[in-house]
Amino acid sequence: MKKILVLHGPNLNLLGEREVNVYGKVTLEQINQELETLAKNQKVELEIHQSNHEGEMVELIQKAQKNKLAGVLINPAAFTHTSVALRDAISAVQIPTVEVHLSNIYAREEFRHTSLTAPSCVGQVSGFGKDSYILGLMALVRRVCS
Ligand code: DQA
Repeated sequence: MKKILVLHGPNLNLLGEREVNVYGKVTLEQINQELETLAKNQKVELEIHQSNHEGEMVELIQKAQKNKLAGVLINPAAFTHTSVALRDAISAVQIPTVEVHLSNIYAREEFRHTSLTAPSCVGQVSGFGKDSYILGLMALVRRVCS
């Protein structure tokens, strides 16, 4: 069975209590449960991690290559706008990667309008709350399983 790495970046462990006006009340656990249900239906396996550390996220992406994972679904969170290291890691491993954001980063502060990571990804879904993850996973599965 094909395996996909789901990687949640910094502060996403606080979903449900963090800036609910922006991110809603959904928790990371609820998002992960919905992703697991979709994965089961699509007959793919998920490996899910959340990290507040840039280096750890780089290492998880590198490990995905070593372990021959089929795809990466990533919400790099704040590192989206700052991390050359994450962008380089995604480019280095050449595993199809889809970037997702709960909020529409292009409708927010200007510093969020630039994603350093998106150019290394096959695509980006932004602005649909937890459905960004669902849509992102669906697109990734269609890409890596067809
Ligand atoms: C986010 C958007 C980022 O700008 C922000 O730093 C986050 C969450 C989102 O999912 O909307 O932490 O990635």
